[in-house]
Amino acid sequence: MGFRSLDDAEVKGKRVLVRVDLNVPMADGKVTDATRIEEVTPTIAELADKGGRVILLSHLNRPKGPDPKHSLRPVAAAVARIVKRPVGFAEDCVGPKAEAAVAAMKDGDILCLENTRFHPEEEKNNQEFAKKLAALGDMFVEDAFSAAHRAHASITSIVTVSGLPAYPGRAMKAELDALEKAFEKPEHPVAAIVGGAKISTKLDLLGHLLSKVETLIIGGGMANTFLAAQGKAIGKSLCENDLIPNARDILTKAKSLKREIVLPIDAVVAERLAANAPSRVVPVDAVEPNDMILDIGPRSVEHVISALARSKTLVWNGPFGAFEVEPFDNGTTEVAEAVAELTEDGRLISFAGGGDTVAALNAAGVTGRLTHVSTAGGAFLESLEGKTLPGVAVLMVSGTLDAAPR
Ligand code: 3PG
Ligand code: MG
Repeated sequence: MGFRSLDDAEVKGKRVLVRVDLNVPMADGKVTDATRIEEVTPTIAELADKGGRVILLSHLNRPKGPDPKHSLRPVAAAVARIVKRPVGFAEDCVGPKAEAAVAAMKDGDILCLENTRFHPEEEKNNQEFAKKLAALGDMFVEDAFSAAHRAHASITSIVTVSGLPAYPGRAMKAELDALEKAFEKPEHPVAAIVGGAKISTKLDLLGHLLSKVETLIIGGGMANTFLAAQGKAIGKSLCENDLIPNARDILTKAKSLKREIVLPIDAVVAERLAANAPSRVVPVDAVEPNDMILDIGPRSVEHVISALARSKTLVWNGPFGAFEVEPFDNGTTEVAEAVAELTEDGRLISFAGGGDTVAALNAAGVTGRLTHVSTAGGAFLESLEGKTLPGVAVLMVSGTLDAAPR
């Protein structure tokens, strides 16, 4: 199985449907974080420069039918500013308005169609709707990794009902390459950091990682449930009591597979989660009944860094502490800094992703210093769980790359 390459695509004069993820945060009609637009800019610019007629397809938010509050029009304007080219807009993604706008395009033009989720058929992956979308183009480029876990009409059926040749865009290809380096052909030993508040959302991930990595580093609120599983008193800390047996199973499985599990050995505790609340560092077996564990302590940071120094590849999802509230961001920031240095020294290949993780890495100022950072949330997590995303599956072609139809 392989993927077609945009390097080989003849795009001049073609109507190129490009599925992007323009589901960006907005306030007062303005885009507040343009990262997702910046990511797809190379693909859009390249296709337009090669003379393609670039038709952007995306959802925005979760509207129930057409709703001006969720129009992509202001996002299209932001795309134009960032891509530094005019971007047209059509008030619907199918039907006469879309057809007329596409028919009026010239080579090199860029057009953004209205929110695909204005049609309930989008999320139902409706085939008739997908056919209407597909009829607007001659080829399909999928550059929305962060939405590739959704089996929606503009992501999967648009390809399967039409037979349009489907290519990963440049951003999508970078994500696929990174996942391959992290999981298919990684340099061993591999370490994973799994953090965040809850085990409940990461059980599949932990199970899959145990079979893939030599070292599993557990941080964040979910580490508390593991500490509780080891019989430690964790005071008022966040804990999923009903998942203590699952945590125990993971520890047992790790032992039988001879995997190293790294848990916090000391913690920063406070009586409440508030900025600059009085806090202390304690060993994890000296947490008082009124304490909440809000970050890992300095010995844990050292312990994590020494585990990373013994590893060649790192996959990171989830922060170590309540990183949004100072000073409980320290553990995450210090580990992030060490990961950036190990990466720059050529000693570690580092992959990170997920909404909170990216926010924490941005706050630590290290995002650009890691090997690859994925801004995707659910799609990154599902990939780490070993699942093939529906939006990736439709891009796969059998045979070698060279034999792939173009
Ligand atoms: C996202 O932001 O997670 C993607 O754009 C998918 O959006 P959704 O979670 O609303 O399906
Ligand atoms: Mg989401």
